[in-house]
Amino acid sequence: MKNFLDIHQTAQSDLRGIIDSATAMKDARKGRSRGALDDDLPLKDQMVALIFEKPSTRTRVSFDVGVRQMGGQTLVLSGADMQLGHGETIADTARVLSRYVDLIMIRTFEEQTLHEMAEYATVPVINGLTNRTHPCQIMADIMTFEEHNGPIKGKRVVWSGDGNNVFASFAHAAKQFDFELVFTGPETLDPEQALNGLYTTVRDPSEAVKGADLVVTDTWVSMHDPQSARERRHNQLRGYQVNDALMAKAKPDALFMHCLPAHRDDEVTSAVMDGANSVIFDEAENRLHAQKAIMRWCLEK
Ligand code: CP
Ligand code: NVA
Repeated sequence: MKNFLDIHQTAQSDLRGIIDSATAMKDARKGRSRGALDDDLPLKDQMVALIFEKPSTRTRVSFDVGVRQMGGQTLVLSGADMQLGHGETIADTARVLSRYVDLIMIRTFEEQTLHEMAEYATVPVINGLTNRTHPCQIMADIMTFEEHNGPIKGKRVVWSGDGNNVFASFAHAAKQFDFELVFTGPETLDPEQALNGLYTTVRDPSEAVKGADLVVTDTWVSMHDPQSARERRHNQLRGYQVNDALMAKAKPDALFMHCLPAHRDDEVTSAVMDGANSVIFDEAENRLHAQKAIMRWCLEK
């Protein structure tokens, strides 16, 4: 049985296969190729549980639409409304859900919850974001980069801001897809130590973005961060805003990415978000195609 829990726990050949399959399904759906890969309805008669313990727009809608495009059905469940939110163990929830559904996607807080769900479920489990990682997002991001600027191998990717969960999945991807990853942000918001060796740090954002093929940022306050930290974080991160002056120091064809939702004119200016180098809405679209490929891969015998 195949789970999609983290990029570093998935073989390089499988990751590449998922990107290729996502691209093929996207091309077929857009009428750009004749291989209508999702016309054979790989999820026919399959039921997929989508569990959300945190808010979501993209993950919720892209998984739900993706399952339906592949012939399956979904149950979108709020963690708080389930017994899971009222004391039932994750292990028991996993065992019960496995009797009803064919696949589980969960967005949760602790990484441990995801791993326990995967350990006790007898159907595949997909990570839809935890406090520590967001692998589905980064699969869509790699696909998006390669659509616009070719193979990501050997390219320079610069992350400006908080060393958070989305950064962590970029760090895992840097090793698996063999690109250079640079972190620029304040020392107080450095990525977790477990990621050391997967990226380099350049404190000065203007230096960091030199030669960048891709500049990425994310919200300064993630869903798991206390709202009380908001002002402090804003003060720490203000110098790491992605704006036209910073983008001008990257390569002229450098792309700009943000997983969204964005806080316009905090971590990134509207001018960059809506500018010619921004591919934020392609990224959002590619969540759909990448996750369809991830679900197919999970359910392949
Ligand atoms: N990027 C992302 O995961 O968005 P949502 O929180 O809207 O799902
Ligand atoms: N870092 C953000 C990503 C949201 C998709 C968060 O965890 O809130």
